[in-house]
This record gives sequence, structure tokens and C-alpha cells, in this order.
Amino acid sequence: MADKLNYKVGMIGALDMLRFKNMPKVREKAIQAASSAPLPKTLTTNEKAKQRHPEKQEVIVAEIRQNGADAKTIVLKTEDGSALAPFRAGQYISVCVPIGGTVTTRSYSLCSSPAWTKRGEYNITVKRDDAGFVSPYIQDHWVVGQHVTISGPQGHLYYERLRDAKKVVALAGGSGITPFMGMAYAIRDGFEDFDLTILFGSRTEDGIVYKKELDEVCAACDKVHVVHVLSDEEKPGYEHGFITAELIKKYGGEEYSVFMCGPQAMYNFLDGEIAKLGLRRKFVRRELFGMIKDPWNQPGYPEDIRGKTFNLKVIQCGREYDITASADEPLLTSIERTGIVAPSRCRSGECSWCRSKLISGKVFVPEKTDGRRRADIEFGYIHPCASFPMSDIVLDVPNSTLK
Ligand code: FES
Repeated sequence: MADKLNYKVGMIGALDMLRFKNMPKVREKAIQAASSAPLPKTLTTNEKAKQRHPEKQEVIVAEIRQNGADAKTIVLKTEDGSALAPFRAGQYISVCVPIGGTVTTRSYSLCSSPAWTKRGEYNITVKRDDAGFVSPYIQDHWVVGQHVTISGPQGHLYYERLRDAKKVVALAGGSGITPFMGMAYAIRDGFEDFDLTILFGSRTEDGIVYKKELDEVCAACDKVHVVHVLSDEEKPGYEHGFITAELIKKYGGEEYSVFMCGPQAMYNFLDGEIAKLGLRRKFVRRELFGMIKDPWNQPGYPEDIRGKTFNLKVIQCGREYDITASADEPLLTSIERTGIVAPSRCRSGECSWCRSKLISGKVFVPEKTDGRRRADIEFGYIHPCASFPMSDIVLDVPNSTLK
């Protein structure tokens, strides 16, 4: 046997040597036969990559629909009907919103089918938060026909066959249904292949967003199921109360992944419930946590800085700006207030888009939104969207492409 193997290895080795010997001649021939036309300025693969992962895209508001009591669904389309960048159901886009002298961004999950990108359409849903800065502005000022700059799709809340269980139990609260609406459409339209059961928490039946659309998808596709959980109403055909470990177990079955999207209070509650289920870590996935509005409630927050302000020197492309930063809000918010346009996407400390060099000073980074790589921590980089000043700060901020 060993002799036979040696014989074969010997033969293969000799053939390889022969091929190697002939290689210069073969190459010479190929070079002589090549076209003398100059190479294209950009390579096709680079062009394709740019189309699939653009830094920014230009769209217009094609339609605005009221969706439930306090949410509006906004249909964004390319002006000429050309395709938008493709996305995995569950991903989000960052929307550039100039308000007065401020340019800020907000991320919104894509709640449309990936199939509609070919006709140049994305849908997002904006829930009104009267205490917020951006959502009331969008709801009150955006009109059909206006131009909007958006990012390419991004985010990690999508189905991955190699990682996730064949069945996904999606836990949604209020407008947190949006990524799962996209997943439901994607399954119906053949872009994804997994079983999706959505436990959808709303206060009342009237307050359910996307009720009609969800009913339609469930009727058309037996892989999508929706269980409505009403907290303020008891009605036949609906679960009552909150989404608990018992409820997840009831609809989960043997093996399942849990995906979550909703307000921060919901995540805080569900973290405890999910811990009771003993699921493997890879089977629990969560959408962006969002900007932390109450850093003083986060573990490790130094109480003595609450309410204080600090000097913040922003260096951007060689220019210096001296501004004031509040210890109660992320550095990114203080920067944007002054009209400086800083890069941002997720605003949750996860995407690294706002990554900036901390030249001097100290910041508090809540554990929940500390998505920095170990090397970045070591070399003094921070995410201003998830960092709160603890002293005077000097920060080198990159330029923004989304403006
Ligand atoms: S915007 Fe994503 S990490 Fe700051």
C-alpha cells in the first residue's frame, strides 16, 4: 500500500514539476495575447461592492401612512426607480435628519420586503416620542416628495442558518415589530427560509401596528405566526399581560432562537425572563439597544458627575471647536447640538461608525453599549454615541460622509 502511495505521489510530483517548468512560457503567451487597452479606472468587483454596500443613498419620500395611534410608515423610493442596495431582513438604515442648525441621524429597521429593493423601495416606521428630538420633527415636517439621504443597510439582527435554530421566536414591543415585519415578508417572498413566531406586545388591540399586514402575511405563508400579547386589555384570541419566560416556552417548542426588538425597558425586563430559559448564548439576539438616556441608572456611573458640564475640544480635519458637554448625555449629542456633523449610524455603541480618538480626558461607557474592540480600548478610541464625559475632554472626530 505504502509503495503504491509513493508511486502515486512520485507521479504527481513529476507532473507538477513539468507544469512549473512550462509556466513561464504559458504566462508569456497570455501576456502577448492580452489587450493593450488601458485598465478600467475602477474594477468591476469594486463597483459591485459599492452598489451592494453604499455609504449613502439618495431617496425621496413617496408616501406617508399613519400606522396605529402614534407611528407613521414612510415609503422611501429612488427618484428614477433604480434599485436600492439589497439587505438582509432585520437590518436597518441610518437616516440623515437636518433640523435647524443641527445635522443628526437616526436608525430605522427596514420593514419592507427585500424583494422591493429592485423597484427602489424601502419602508421605515417612525414612532412618535414627544420627548424626543427627531421623531416629532419627522412626523410633523416630512412631506411627500422631499429628498432624504440615507445610509446603506447594516446591522446584525438577521437570520443566519449556521448560527440560529430553525425556528425563531421574535419578541417585539410596539414599533419593535419593524425588523420582524421585514423578516415575515422575506419568508413569504422566498428570501429567507425559517419558521418565525412573533410574540408581539402591545397595550391594546387598537394600538397594534401592522395588524392588517401581519394578518395578510400569516394567511399567505404557513411559516409565519403572530401571537398578540395585550398588556392593558383582556380579549378572546389574545394573550394577556407581558411577554414572559412561560409564554416564550409555550410557543417556542423544542429548539428555538430568540430575537428581540423593542424599547430599552422591554430589554431590561426580558433579560431576566430569558435567563430563566437557559438558552445557549448564540440563540439569543437583540436589536440595537439605542442611546442611553439615563446613564445615572447604569452600573458604574460616578454619581458625583450627574448634572455637571465639561469643556470638550473637538478636532475634526485639522479644525478645532471648543464646546460644552453635559455628563448626562452622550458626547455625540453635545457635538451635534453645536452644528458639528459627526459620523454616526447605530447610535448604540455597536457599529463603530462614530469611532473617535480620545486625546485626553475620562469618559464613562455603560457596559450595555460598550461595543468597542479590545484594541480600540487599548489605543484610546471611544464611541461618542455611547460615552459620557467625566472630565474635560479633547476628542479627534472623523468627518461624516452622511450629510
Ligand atoms: S454610531 Fe455606531 S458606534 Fe457610535
